[in-house]
Amino acid sequence: MFKRIADLKTEGNIGRTTTLKGWIHRLRKQKQKTFIILRDDRGDIIQIVCPSTLCENLTIESSIEITGILNKDSRAPEDGYEIKVDRIALFNIAETDYPIGEYQSEETLLDYRHLSLRTRKMINIGRIRNSLLKYSRDWFYMENWMEITPPIIVKSAVEGGSTLFKVKYFEDIAYLSQSSQLYLESMIYCLGPVWSITPSFRAEKSRTIRHLAEFTHLEAEAPWITFDDLINIQEKLIFNLIEKIIENNTAELDFLNTNSRTKLERISIPFEKMSYDKAIDILKSKDCKIKDGDKNRVIEWGDDLNIESERELTKDKYNPIFVINYPLEIKPFYVKQNDKDSKTGMAVDLLAPDGYGEISGGGIREDNLEKLKCRILRSNLEPKDYQWYLDLRKYGSVPHGGFGLGIERILRWILGFEDIKDVVLFPRTMSRVTP
Ligand code: 4AD
Repeated sequence: MFKRIADLKTEGNIGRTTTLKGWIHRLRKQKQKTFIILRDDRGDIIQIVCPSTLCENLTIESSIEITGILNKDSRAPEDGYEIKVDRIALFNIAETDYPIGEYQSEETLLDYRHLSLRTRKMINIGRIRNSLLKYSRDWFYMENWMEITPPIIVKSAVEGGSTLFKVKYFEDIAYLSQSSQLYLESMIYCLGPVWSITPSFRAEKSRTIRHLAEFTHLEAEAPWITFDDLINIQEKLIFNLIEKIIENNTAELDFLNTNSRTKLERISIPFEKMSYDKAIDILKSKDCKIKDGDKNRVIEWGDDLNIESERELTKDKYNPIFVINYPLEIKPFYVKQNDKDSKTGMAVDLLAPDGYGEISGGGIREDNLEKLKCRILRSNLEPKDYQWYLDLRKYGSVPHGGFGLGIERILRWILGFEDIKDVVLFPRTMSRVTP
């Protein structure tokens, strides 16, 4: 007896009797014979052929157990395996108005995401998400980083007040975490290099193809690391993730986008490191515009890089690019000022090639108590909300740094998808919070 379709499909099993549990993915009834595509609980499929007398009540998505003999027939879909069935047991006969068919609008698929997760596309996305999370975890364990589980309900902003989600917290107000960074920072004093995967929340008011209101955030923080160390860690991690995906996820990659494997195979390390100054020079020379109020003007030093400028810098590149040393004014309060250039901070963003934009952001943290207090005030934040964070600078402050990587951003780039919503199982955006 075999539990799963994947274990069953070998030449050696041809002719053997087997029992499988699953759901009716497709159904084609003929007078004598009925053809079923059965999907098991891992999302694999196999053709089932059975006498139509056994299938009268069957509907799409009914859950069944079948018993029959494994055969090979070149007319069967995919790899030619099929089961000739002589017994079907029923778990549930699905109602006949199953809303997901072969052709559906993107909006309908999103409205019924709890059901459209059963489509081949979403099954492959679910598998590749699982792999990416597993390879990340494997890498951190291999490199001896400790995993922590920071809180999600918090009192203070990390990435600016404008994208905070407010929650009523008993008689008080709290927020959904934008980033676990401050908590990771507090752990480096007792667990050393630490990392976490948490949901992060941003009340993004704009509808874009790369912003979610809730995303999966992989973050890491370590004591006594230099800016170069920090860049190298990200490079090693991301290259390792790409290598593992190429090695182990060929089927999912090829199913979801036939070009993505070739694109990933071209990636090599080291990735280019480009100063913000150089990036601005390039963008100015290309007359790259940014929005300033109602008008567009040519980008200049001090502007943040928008998606168009990130696209300009990375188009025609195979590898991601690190952009380093951003103006302090456009980065959050915790970024450490550069010793040799007080206008810039030790911040780094990693831009994916081909215009996919920022996939990771981080830097060295301000470890001086007085400077940090000033930066909190200058950012119009409430110092009292950061009292505990400031304690970290009072008691044994050390140079340290870290980064945050958006799992959906990296997946969107790996798979070459246009819209970030497509790589999330249950997307949360400005206009969608169900299912
Ligand atoms: O650049 P961000 O805002 O940096 C931080 O949150 C730091 N506190 C992280 C740290 O240093 N520990 O976010 C980090 C990454 C981005 O590069 C992007 O990949 C992803 O998180 N990200 C989003 N992904 C989807 N939707 C959004 N709204 C995102 N905002 C950030």
